Amino acid sequence: NNYCVIMAGGIGSRFWPMSTQKYPKQFQDILGTGRTMIQQTFDRINKIVPAENIFVITNREYVSLTEQQLPQLRPENIVGEPMMKNTAACNIYMAKKIADLNPDANMIVLPADHLILKENIFLRKVELGFNLAEKNDYLITLGIKPTRPDTGYGYIQFVEKKNSEYYKVKTFTEKPDLEIAKTFLESGDFLWNAGIFIWNVKSILAAFELYLEEMSQHFQSCKYNAKGESACIDLIYPKVNKISIDNGILEKAKNVYVIPSDLGWSDLGTWTSVYENAEKDEDKNAIKSKHILTYNSKGNIVRLKSRNKAAIIDGLKNFIIVDTDKALLICPRDNDQLIKEYVQDLRTLK
Ligand code: GDD
Ligand code: MG
Repeated sequence: NNYCVIMAGGIGSRFWPMSTQKYPKQFQDILGTGRTMIQQTFDRINKIVPAENIFVITNREYVSLTEQQLPQLRPENIVGEPMMKNTAACNIYMAKKIADLNPDANMIVLPADHLILKENIFLRKVELGFNLAEKNDYLITLGIKPTRPDTGYGYIQFVEKKNSEYYKVKTFTEKPDLEIAKTFLESGDFLWNAGIFIWNVKSILAAFELYLEEMSQHFQSCKYNAKGESACIDLIYPKVNKISIDNGILEKAKNVYVIPSDLGWSDLGTWTSVYENAEKDEDKNAIKSKHILTYNSKGNIVRLKSRNKAAIIDGLKNFIIVDTDKALLICPRDNDQLIKEYVQDLRTLK
């Protein structure tokens, strides 16, 4: 009864210029492990969910990249979207498709670009999530202990219960501003939303009917796993709202539960998260190359495409410097959430 959906349709623009529209980060081997982010995501969940129950939903532009990187998947399990509509649309689409195959299915939704170091703990928490979703009308998310007031995450406040491995969620706040994130962090009773969800298809489809009714109606009009599905999707996608599952459902639903999980987790979504996971020198600079010299410089992350390129950095604190064949980024680390907007601006240049 257990299915998995890997969401891989983002372009990772906060991770520009490493992640680009042509070659988003989930299809790259960011950490140099020999497997790309989406391959690692697949390998991890494939230990408990068989390949025939694993689906990838991504933009049509990336379907062939997905096929190349995950030859274990059945072609019909790689689903292409005609355009980017954020994560609510891809979640209802996949819930509909899976419900049509198995009306009692539980599904886990995984982002394709997360680092998880403690795989055994992850698998245990997922098993617990599947068991809970099987028996209850719960929308379950994995929660991570926060380490910094990051404004790129969802924050979860929960109802404490002794000796329990999961809690009822009191409030869910998606991407708060910095001041609020700081109070959340200081209060100590918040978790980050890992963006990993587990639910029964019935529960999530009911939540869509309640909170995103219009979207739900659009998706009601298609027949799934049948001829004409993709033509129907082409027809409705331009009409559906661009909204995340976090804003659209999780902030509103009353039946959200969290499983606190110590996963060695990181959303390698921003330069700060890569910085945090990178090896650093005594000045807290994350610099891989021995051809780069720093003076009066602290807390920088520097990535140069060419390993032999020399660089001198003087007087720079907490900056991101990334140099590729096609682009150069110089940006304070604190502004890494804004890179997404900068990249939008760049597109308007011709
Ligand atoms: N198929 C598809 N279509 N996938 C998409 C789309 C889309 O339109 N948009 C995003 N995705 C994929 C991304 O590739 C990524 O794997 C995942 O969905 C999550 O999207 P992000 O854009 O990375 O979300 P986020 O990082 O800003 O926020 C989410 O994750 C955080 C943890 O990493 C939220 O769930 C936050 O609450 C959470 O804290
Ligand atoms: Mg992300």
